[in-house]
Amino acid sequence: MPSLTVALTGAAGYIASHVAVALFERGHSVVGFDNFSNSSPKSLERVAQIADTHMPFEQLDLADTDGIEAFLRAHQVDAVIHFAGLKAVGESTEQPLRYHENNVGGSLSLLRAMENAGVRHLVFSSSATVYHPDEASPLREDASLGPINPYGATKLMVEQIIGDVATYSDLRAINLRYFNPVGAHPSGLIGEDPVGTPNNLMPFIMQVAVGRREQLNIFGDDYDTPDGTPIRDYIHVMDLAEGHVAAVEALHPTTGPGVDNVEAINLGTGVGSSVKEVLAAAEQAVDHPIPHQVVERRAGDGTVSYADPGRAEALLGWRATRTMADACVDHWRWQERNPHGFAPDPATDE
Ligand code: NAD
Ligand code: UD1
Repeated sequence: MPSLTVALTGAAGYIASHVAVALFERGHSVVGFDNFSNSSPKSLERVAQIADTHMPFEQLDLADTDGIEAFLRAHQVDAVIHFAGLKAVGESTEQPLRYHENNVGGSLSLLRAMENAGVRHLVFSSSATVYHPDEASPLREDASLGPINPYGATKLMVEQIIGDVATYSDLRAINLRYFNPVGAHPSGLIGEDPVGTPNNLMPFIMQVAVGRREQLNIFGDDYDTPDGTPIRDYIHVMDLAEGHVAAVEALHPTTGPGVDNVEAINLGTGVGSSVKEVLAAAEQAVDHPIPHQVVERRAGDGTVSYADPGRAEALLGWRATRTMADACVDHWRWQERNPHGFAPDPATDE
């Protein structure tokens, strides 16, 4: 595989930082930009520490089409992985216009900049949230689509826009539909650092474990599952990262296994875990009980969602290899060493 130059939008974010490490490990060059609306420059320093190399970086917003075009030209970029976006489901119902402006408007701006700069390979961070909630798991890519909130709608719209551009121009693109990313790089130097109260299960559990929050609220235990709690497909972020490397390489005209102009591909493990199973695995990893209580269901939560990961294996030669136990141990190492994420400790200011 020749060494590619890959540009990451949203480069300082949770998933992009892990993908940067995985790309460097495979011998690719990585450049990136971010507006730091949901991330810290510290994560870039930590990536440099892990990879022992520095990622050329600019503070840029997706809306800055000319700035992005100049950036892509300056670095002679071969492919873009597009992570930048707002991702909080609840917030998207309070600020739908902001979500559409940033996620859909921003993606249009990026596509224009890529076309102007002649960059014709794109991997997009989509989500399993694009599937219709009534579809049965395991979810295949041809299941019906039908997101139920503005965040999910922006993901589906961007997939459709990319689909049209790729069908009628020389763009080649892969829309990666992530299931539930968890875990951290095994170094404990980078990981998920949510702003404010975490919406997602694993970061919430780990913040309780480290003493930042009192207890986990389990949103309902009266679902139709063996232990009454909902089932999801939690995927280790390093497995997810390696899936991105496989996708970028598959787009390469001569050496990839060969994908169509535009593909949608699930990145999941194919294994479902309940909330109570995740909690038990986390307690094992942190080696102490994690306080919790059962409360009312959360609106919008489905019962069971997990991937059929067969297409990723067939088209990308990729499948997840890490376990829930690995994810909990790695997530805990990150959380324990960085109890306040990338922010300084408020007690010591360090
Ligand atoms: P993140 O918030 O950590 O990373 C996104 C990055 O994009 C942040 O660094 C943010 O500052 C940046 N950004 C946002 N808007 C921007 C703009 N207009 N210009 C430049 N930079 C901008 O989130 P993440 O968890 O790493 O997610 C990355 C992508 O994957 C997102 O598109 C998200 O919707 C998608 N995704 C995430 C999950 C998940 O559970 N984490 C699941 C499915 C899909
Ligand atoms: C959520 C989003 C989804 C997004 C995904 C990854 C909703 C309805 N869906 O998925 O669009 O792509 O995050 O960012 O918000 N849980 C608790 N207590 C908590 C937190 C969660 O019991 O404090 C439970 C939830 O009820 C759910 C499971 O844990 O059953 C996983 O929740 P979460 O991590 O938020 O992921 P999803 O709901 O699958």
